[in-house]
Amino acid sequence: MDEQSISLTVNGTEQNGEAEPRMSLADFLRERLGLTGTHIGCEHGVCGVCTVICDGMAVRSCLMFAVQADKKEIRTIEGLADGDTMHPLQTLFSEQRALQCGFCTPGMLMTAVDLVDNNPSITPPEIKAGMSAVLCRCTGYEGILKAVEAYAKQIKGV
Ligand code: FES
Ligand code: FES
Repeated sequence: MDEQSISLTVNGTEQNGEAEPRMSLADFLRERLGLTGTHIGCEHGVCGVCTVICDGMAVRSCLMFAVQADKKEIRTIEGLADGDTMHPLQTLFSEQRALQCGFCTPGMLMTAVDLVDNNPSITPPEIKAGMSAVLCRCTGYEGILKAVEAYAKQIKGV
């Protein structure tokens, strides 16, 4: 099938590329742009590890076609850190031992950024419910939730 030209902004940089109509955004990011930080698990919208932020909202990049991202602003795990300075949530994941094998971590981080940045007054139960969108096969949810709760406190300034 013919490829289509798309133009999108990824982590603040304009990117132009070609994608077959059925190519997922996850595959486009990984294969065409070399941004392999976005992981792929189930490819069915269930595990959440492929989560990226599209125009300010978390999306499952395995369920979104690359052509649907045309003219959109995408933020991936590669865009979280500021140069050599980790994003506060990355630091908190490290401090709270929320990193195990790391496979789910990009999806966890992008989901948490979406949850907290879009709702700075989020409560711990809301964090728990929101983070349940991503599955961790290492099952270490306690540290992950502690890290996201600490991030929400930082954002609130308490
Ligand atoms: S790989 Fe996208 S939800 Fe599992
Ligand atoms: S840290 Fe291993 S899958 Fe979550």
